[in-house]
Amino acid sequence: MAGTDSAGSLLAISDLHVRHPENRTIVEGIRPRTPQDWLLVAGDVGDTVAEVEWALRLLADRFARVVWSPGNHELWTPPGDPVTLRGAARYAHLVELCRDLGVVTPEDPYPVWQGRGGPVTVAPLFLLYDHSWRPDGFDTPEAALAEAYRTGIVCTDEFLLHPDPYQSRSAWCAARVAETARRLAERDPALPTVLMNHWPLVREVTRVLRYPIFAQWCGTDATADWHVRFDAAAVVYGHLHIPRTSWHDGVRFEEVSVGYPREWQPRRVPPGRLRQILPAPEGTPSTAW
Ligand SMILES: [Fe+2]
Ligand SMILES: [Fe+2]
Repeated sequence: MAGTDSAGSLLAISDLHVRHPENRTIVEGIRPRTPQDWLLVAGDVGDTVAEVEWALRLLADRFARVVWSPGNHELWTPPGDPVTLRGAARYAHLVELCRDLGVVTPEDPYPVWQGRGGPVTVAPLFLLYDHSWRPDGFDTPEAALAEAYRTGIVCTDEFLLHPDPYQSRSAWCAARVAETARRLAERDPALPTVLMNHWPLVREVTRVLRYPIFAQWCGTDATADWHVRFDAAAVVYGHLHIPRTSWHDGVRFEEVSVGYPREWQPRRVPPGRLRQILPAPEGTPSTAW
């Protein structure tokens, strides 16, 4: 069904990680196909506030609309960043930055994509994780974390992603999940959604991780049915650095990450290609990009 604006596409990318000069070059090359295109940016733009601002400003100048969800890297308080805010205060600072740039955040009214494949409600989400995706045999977050330390696969979030003022990242996640579910329930029920979250909504997609123990930093069981419950036409995520398309309960999930140079350089696919979310591409490949 065509919307009122029949020309543009809803496109997506994530994990730009512009700390790396090679990735900054990729971002400089990102351009819309038509003046009507929207770009969804699913987190991990950069580590410092200045890096995030550089990339989002550039993209906001080029696309009709840019929609952003934070990744764990934006939420870090890294050494050397003159912005020393932590946790929820850091997130609030990034939201204000986005508003100055005209970029839509999870704190804004959900915009409606009226272009090709629309109308759909575009919902940028910020949900974090709660250590519920633990390996078999590890019944508590503490046991799973101890195993991670034993094996040497520990996410840097443990050192740089502070949950202030929450007691823990899990508590912050629970608050985000509750508030976000409330907002999604209030959306226009006549329209399907495109859900965008840095972390995947379903655990199944983490089964391809090289180190499965890393899944404890990747999402929450609380969102396992959200793609059905909130009528998703597509779900956009990143974080895993494993770009691919998969289907869950008939819903298309798109992992749209660029990742680190050492990850994308060996791939045959040129880096930085934007994934088309809507209109749904014909003959969508079912696995790897
Ligand atoms: Fe990333
Ligand atoms: Fe990430």
